[in-house]
Amino acid sequence: MSKLLGVSQMTPYIVHCFWPEPFGTHPYCLSDCDTGLCVSYRVQLLQGAALPVAVCAGSLCARWGSSHGGHKSGQYQRSHGPNWRHALAGLLAGTGAVLAYGLYHSQTEQAATTIVQPIAPASSLPIYTQDEVTKHRSVEEGVWVTYKGSVYDITEFVSMHPGGDKILLAAGGALEPFWALYAVHSQDHVLEILSEYKVGELSAEDRRKQQSVKSTDPYSTDPERHPALRINSLKPFNAEPPPEILSDNYITPSAIFFKRNHLPVPQVDPKSYLLQVEGVPGGASLSLSLEELKTRFPKHTVTATLQCAGNRRSEMNKVKQVKGLNWGIAAISNATWSGARLKDVLLAAGYRSEVAQQTSHVQFEGLDSDVTGTTYGASIPLNKAVSEEGDVLLAYQMNGEDLPADHGYPVRVVVPGTVGARNVKWLGKIIVSEEESSSHWQQNDYKGFSPATDWDTVDFKSAPAIQELPIQSAITQPVEGAVVERSAEEVTVKGYAWSGGGREVVRVDVSLDGGRTWQVAQLQSSEKGQVPAPSPPPGRAWAWKLWELTAPLPPAVQELEIVCKAVDNSYNMQPDSVAPIWNLRGVLSNAWHRVKVTVKEDEEKQKLL
Ligand code: MTE
Repeated sequence: MSKLLGVSQMTPYIVHCFWPEPFGTHPYCLSDCDTGLCVSYRVQLLQGAALPVAVCAGSLCARWGSSHGGHKSGQYQRSHGPNWRHALAGLLAGTGAVLAYGLYHSQTEQAATTIVQPIAPASSLPIYTQDEVTKHRSVEEGVWVTYKGSVYDITEFVSMHPGGDKILLAAGGALEPFWALYAVHSQDHVLEILSEYKVGELSAEDRRKQQSVKSTDPYSTDPERHPALRINSLKPFNAEPPPEILSDNYITPSAIFFKRNHLPVPQVDPKSYLLQVEGVPGGASLSLSLEELKTRFPKHTVTATLQCAGNRRSEMNKVKQVKGLNWGIAAISNATWSGARLKDVLLAAGYRSEVAQQTSHVQFEGLDSDVTGTTYGASIPLNKAVSEEGDVLLAYQMNGEDLPADHGYPVRVVVPGTVGARNVKWLGKIIVSEEESSSHWQQNDYKGFSPATDWDTVDFKSAPAIQELPIQSAITQPVEGAVVERSAEEVTVKGYAWSGGGREVVRVDVSLDGGRTWQVAQLQSSEKGQVPAPSPPPGRAWAWKLWELTAPLPPAVQELEIVCKAVDNSYNMQPDSVAPIWNLRGVLSNAWHRVKVTVKEDEEKQKLL
């Protein structure tokens, strides 16, 4: 408790925010974070998941080829029976299709519905602890996984996996969440293949640990998360999907949608939930149940991308250390949101256009709070909130289902085109006001500054709160450090592009030589294979575009520096480098994205060199 008081007596800045960041400890983190057993287990999984994918592709194929007699990608020469070949065919055919399906369901639901039967434990095999399993998450150390309490050494299988490198995401952890993600694995013959690699049993204690949570931990009721997510901070939970998964789907499955929480996820009872609306000049306060929100107002659906202001902060850290979570390029995701229009609810609370002179902002308060009772809060300009074209939603559905707990169940604000921070989750109160939200996150954070401003000179009052975000794009595939085989003759580059304020991305330029020459990528504005969505009305391009370019490998180079930059319909372009836009909080990081990959020459050719 004394520790806790110590923290709360510090400046409000420290009390309210960013305890996983280098400011110091937040009250919630004083609970024994690392002994949250279930949670620490998830970390172990994710440490495995965070292994660079570069360890597989070329090197694994080469390894299999040398030790197993000339395996080539796509040919599976290990002597398995017909079931084996059927499994592979099934896996190859189904992976993409089931990903979209599988990810829409929570991990728990998926685990419950899997049709795979448990493998009977063989008592003669050794018992391993989770720690021992976690040590095996690379080809060099061996790739171990657990499934229903048994331990498998799948090192040999890695190079044969039809899903390619993605198998390494499960290395050192449990297979269940991944098999739930890729439901094609739920077949008996896949299980048969797995059984060949069984090396032992998981200790009873670790099996129990997977289920247990610490009741005193304010985060103990946080929901389960998909282990593919890369965790930036566990408590509060902040995580992003691996880039190569992010661009697999135009609509990001909710399970891997990036998650940005400042506080524990609140438990909200949908039956007693009430949304308060107040402050409308000349209007009346309104209190709406979830049912009323759903039935009194027309349901409106919008596909919109959310991006955290700190997306790509890690690139700013490379220039000079900033304060904040070290986000990679995937603190951005795209979903379909459904709910009541904020405008309709404000009208029901008495809003009339005449009162626009008397008031300028709409504030939102979340139901998540810290130990001092301070809730998360933010505000947006009134004109965005009430605009017919603003499409601001009080969303109760994400991707066609109830909002997941991490994304604001039962109701969140979705402010299309606007920085993630204003999209308040677990919405408790809406206040129409002359003032912006007084919350820390509106006043003293999520603002941009000059590279010249440091923590001694910064005056947060001098800068406006970020609302619309600038043009953005990044490369999701290949990832940094990947190896491209010269024999492939071409390289495929994929990524996303998005601009704030409803500005439509009209072009993405890609360079393979660090920006000296450019090619134009193909844009994709719907799920692959589906009829492209009609162009959005001007000013309402809320969703990202995925993009792709397949180009011949430039001759005689050993390394490619792949670069992308996007252009929106206001001809806004990204700056070419990070240093001139560096700022002390590491927000608005949108320079050209650069990825270096190695070109691996054919062995024959290498001998000649
Ligand atoms: N709303 C509440 N109540 N609490 C929060 O911590 N985080 C904000 C915003 N809304 C936050 C919140 C931030 S900074 C971002 S980027 C988005 O939620 C992230 O939304 P997501 O977790 O659904 O991706």
